[in-house]
Amino acid sequence: MTKNVLVTGGNRGIGLEIVKGMLSKGYKVLMGCRDEESGLEAKKEIVGGDIHVIELPLDNETAIVDAFVRAEAVYGPIDILINNAGILDDTDWKEVNSESLAKSMQVNVSAPLTLMQQTLPQMIERGFGRIINVSSSYGSFAEGLKRAFMLRSNESRY
Ligand SMILES: NC(=O)c1ccc[n+]([C@@H]2O[C@H](COP(=O)([O-])OP(=O)(O)OC[C@H]3O[C@@H](n4cnc5c(N)ncnc54)[C@H](OP(=O)(O)O)[C@@H]3O)[C@@H](O)[C@H]2O)c1
Repeated sequence: MTKNVLVTGGNRGIGLEIVKGMLSKGYKVLMGCRDEESGLEAKKEIVGGDIHVIELPLDNETAIVDAFVRAEAVYGPIDILINNAGILDDTDWKEVNSESLAKSMQVNVSAPLTLMQQTLPQMIERGFGRIINVSSSYGSFAEGLKRAFMLRSNESRY
């Protein structure tokens, strides 16, 4: 049976390429997008394949769960979850405020956790599932702190 894949932030960048890759392998792909229009726009460049645009804003837990439950009711259980959406906030660390930090943490950390909580128990029950969390070396303490320091000390970017 065809497996269902959910890709967050599937409307552009790496997410869109993942969507195309999974379609080419014959999966049914749910393209998670902050807003439906951006997904429908991105979908125009895709020819063929079993693809469905899902409005999946990652800004708060309730919105995520609501959208996820609706998507599963329509398309069936998610077999493969790809947490791709992310925010890179380049603000000087001295100027970061709690609001922007909370926004990054919500999209980069909390939203993937919420989606894992929605999918993993059922995957275990069904005896199959894959969860892929796309991250960045900037997400590691060593790289992230080194970069923040270098950007502010007139040394070259690497
Ligand atoms: N590009 C790189 O060089 C690089 C390197 C290492 C790791 N990564 C990781 O790879 C992943 C994708 O990177 P990318 O470069 O393709 O990023 P991108 O082009 O900036 O795309 C980010 C995606 O996340 C979505 N997104 C952001 N905030 C959202 C929210 N609140 N609700 C729903 N969707 C939201 C965006 O939606 P909108 O279109 O609506 O904004 C967009 O689809 C990220 O996790 C990033 O950390 C990227």
